[in-house]
Amino acid sequence: MKIKNICCIGAGYVGGPTMAVIAHKCPDIKVTIVDLNKQRIADWNDENLDNLPVYEPGLADVVASARGRNLFFSTDVEKAIEEAEMIFISVNTPTKTYGLGKGQAADLKYIELCARQIAAVAKNDKIVVEKSTLPVRTAQAIKDILENTGNGVKFEILSNPEFLAEGTAVEDLMHPDRVLIGGDTDEDGQKAIQALVDVYANWIPKEKILTTNVWSSELSKLTANAFLAQRVSSINAMSELCEKTGADVTEVARAIGMDSRIGPKFLKASVGFGGSCFQKDILNLVYIAKSYGLTEVADYWEQVIIMNDHQKRRFASNIVKTLYNTVSGKKIAFLGWAFKKDTNDTRESAAIYVANDLLNEQAEIAVYDPKVEDDTIYADLNYLGSRSAEDNTKGVKTFTDPYEACNDAHAIAVLTEWDEFKDYDWQKIYENMKKPAFVFDGRNLLDGKKMNEIGFIYQEIGK
Ligand code: UDX
Ligand code: ADP
Repeated sequence: MKIKNICCIGAGYVGGPTMAVIAHKCPDIKVTIVDLNKQRIADWNDENLDNLPVYEPGLADVVASARGRNLFFSTDVEKAIEEAEMIFISVNTPTKTYGLGKGQAADLKYIELCARQIAAVAKNDKIVVEKSTLPVRTAQAIKDILENTGNGVKFEILSNPEFLAEGTAVEDLMHPDRVLIGGDTDEDGQKAIQALVDVYANWIPKEKILTTNVWSSELSKLTANAFLAQRVSSINAMSELCEKTGADVTEVARAIGMDSRIGPKFLKASVGFGGSCFQKDILNLVYIAKSYGLTEVADYWEQVIIMNDHQKRRFASNIVKTLYNTVSGKKIAFLGWAFKKDTNDTRESAAIYVANDLLNEQAEIAVYDPKVEDDTIYADLNYLGSRSAEDNTKGVKTFTDPYEACNDAHAIAVLTEWDEFKDYDWQKIYENMKKPAFVFDGRNLLDGKKMNEIGFIYQEIGK
């Protein structure tokens, strides 16, 4: 079966870039991305490519190459489902904030809604592809809904987890390490797998396209993220020990990374990992393990989160301690709010938690981030719910000029590793700060020697 028409439900950080690249690479396939959020769709259709709702290096060019040719953004979910032979589900699956599994399980209400909508609309056989990260065995739930509420048409469910990292999404999609497709082991399942393999084969070498059963595919996604997050928590655990012993975590990371069995990636000590995936997926893994009674397995993975929470907290408490045990009324400038560079995404960003701790200590926070909008910063803090929206607005001011953000500050905290921070006129920033001028580099981004020479009291993670 040759796919000619694809629909993707959910025009977010995953659905948007993924479908844009498919459309770019497969001009013969019509790709329609739909979303309930009208503003999001309007932004994807905006003539001015600077206004796309997702910031990713290279994304605007890819969208420009295909939009209006074979790439369409629409709010007409039903029409797109009806026309498509293959439907990707890329809706969000946040951690549940209520009821059973609160704080750990994934909230599948958006997925279920999609499944019901597909079932109601489909008039011919469809291949449904899980793109969002989902707990193992979600495919079964989708299948149940489709088969029991549908119009008697046949559905094949595939799992095709996304491994792109934000900030490098386009590059990751163009040249992935591998593409994983899970499906039923019966003949129809294998045919559906082949249909999706053929789509990717338009630009990805066959040997990089891996096929498995559905459950392996679903669990591989959680496992990959758990392993990656574990590396970050492991090096962050060592960073605290380095600070006590006089070892330098960057040197330790370099020394162990040269062991080919360990490898050099994901060993950067930081203020803590963020993003929409790591915490959510591990919590999910923990929840699944617990639900099978596997307490040790659950505790083992939960420790990765505990370590990460500790790292964020100790970064904030170190600022307070270093500033003579009080930050009350002191201006602390935040450079960066996004959870990593080259994205405007702030979900689970360490900056949110550090800000929250410092606000509890009555600090005045000044935030500059090159890509994050003010509204997002306040929404992040309000979502935490530690204080009223009014108090968040009082305690946090946002700036479009980094130099202004740093004026009269007692300290600067580097929360995101944006490249531009390295090129600032640090001498000028120093002159306009309160003295002694502190810099807490949560990303080990700046040149420590230079910072000390200027006169800053400069602290890094794990040194
Ligand atoms: C991750 C996975 O990498 C990706 O494959 C999956 O599909 C989604 O989750 P993402 O969350 O976009 O991607 O970013 P990633 O590059 O993995 O970084 C996650 C967090 O870890 C960031 O906050 C980053 O700053 C932090 N990190 C990463 C470190 O602190 N140190 C490192 O060495 C690497
Ligand atoms: P991700 O990082 O997984 O892409 P996002 O939150 O960026 O997550 O994107 C998910 C998108 O899915 C949102 O834009 C949301 O409006 C959309 N969405 C959620 N449920 C539905 C639905 N039933 N139909 C259409 N779009 C949906």
